[in-house]
Amino acid sequence: MDRQAMAIRKLQEAHQEHVLRFWDELTGDEREALASQVMGIDFSVLEAAQEGPAASDSGTVRPLPALELGEVEREKDRFEAAGLKALQEGRVCAVLLAGGMGTRLGSSAPKGMFDLGKTRHVFIFQRAFEVLLAVCGRIGRPIRFFIMTSELNDKATRAFIEEQNYFGYDPAYVTFFTQDMAPAVDFAGHVLMESKGRIATAPNGNGGWLTSMARAGLLEVMHREGIEWINVFGVDNVLARICDPVFVGATLLSGCATSVKVVRKAFPEEKMGVMCLKDGRPAVIEYTELTDELRNEKNDKGEPAYNFGVTVNYLFHLGEAEKVMNGNFALHLARKKIPCIDAAGCPVTPDEPNGIKFELFIFDLLSQMPGCLPVEVVREQEFAPVKNRTGVDSVESARRLLELNGISL
Ligand code: UD1
Repeated sequence: MDRQAMAIRKLQEAHQEHVLRFWDELTGDEREALASQVMGIDFSVLEAAQEGPAASDSGTVRPLPALELGEVEREKDRFEAAGLKALQEGRVCAVLLAGGMGTRLGSSAPKGMFDLGKTRHVFIFQRAFEVLLAVCGRIGRPIRFFIMTSELNDKATRAFIEEQNYFGYDPAYVTFFTQDMAPAVDFAGHVLMESKGRIATAPNGNGGWLTSMARAGLLEVMHREGIEWINVFGVDNVLARICDPVFVGATLLSGCATSVKVVRKAFPEEKMGVMCLKDGRPAVIEYTELTDELRNEKNDKGEPAYNFGVTVNYLFHLGEAEKVMNGNFALHLARKKIPCIDAAGCPVTPDEPNGIKFELFIFDLLSQMPGCLPVEVVREQEFAPVKNRTGVDSVESARRLLELNGISL
């Protein structure tokens, strides 16, 4: 059976024949492209759309204590020595999550290309390279750096980083890989069409990093190079300390197979996932799924019970992560405005959510692994996310925090 016939069969089995509505109008190349897109899509995710609320809405939730600032400070030397040793032995690598769409910033360019500088360039990507370079300088060896992009921004990201000469990093230690895409559906579970010959898709969430790395053969590369720990971080926190020896050491000495840097939330509605224990296992409840009841719950001291927000800065033990990576992870559903075409083939730019996107979240791996250590960090020194143009978590607030930390713009 040729590829087009297989694609048609696959669509019939998934009850998505409407994808072929304009088949007769497509050229040979367009049919081939659509068939190839169909063959690359995992339609089983659509079943999640029928299953109702995400997993975070269920289970018994309790607070999870973090390693707090005072404790970190007291043990700093011991943690730092252990972390430096692991870094010097090349046992830690970095993975940058840069496959997201960054729509809140109002630009279609990769978020990392945003320039925060005033008198010089300070691109968001540049910050990650510079922070890593400083650690490399300290330990006297390069750190393996993997960068996750998606179909939407891969070309632009690679071209930009090359054009910037990797910000002084040795390109031999930088590897790009792309995450998978997931189809977007309407509320009846039918995939939306971006055009007559293309299904609307979106990156499958930042939890896609590990299986995408495995598929690209990069976990083997890590093993070959003696890497044991993976420091995974988001693109937009321009004060993130990556491969921070104290964090690495605290994790190693704790015996936990994962850890995450957390900060105290600035206000209850802050858009941060919060650490908790769910059914006795460490977990994160994303801000989109946190109920009012949990948001307002207080502990014995009268403080918010779920107050440690996760910065997207995680450590995962490679061997332990590999053991669980092929398990069943709940898909998170987000109602979004998804540009598409209607049944007549006319473009639709919705003002209200018209469909659902499916995402895997990075922290869903935590509860599958042996132990997770949340490590509190000083918010003003390590957390300056760039999410919006103005206001909270914005270009403005990040600039202010960078300057406060002595980084000239
Ligand atoms: C994220 C976290 C939230 C945390 C907050 C802190 C997740 C799911 N959410 O929320 O828990 O408290 O940041 O600022 O981790 N990304 C991809 N591919 C995707 C989607 C996202 O690589 O398909 C990357 C983004 O490029 C970014 C990171 O993941 O680097 C976080 O994604 P974003 O959509 O910005 O998450 P938030 O909603 O801000």
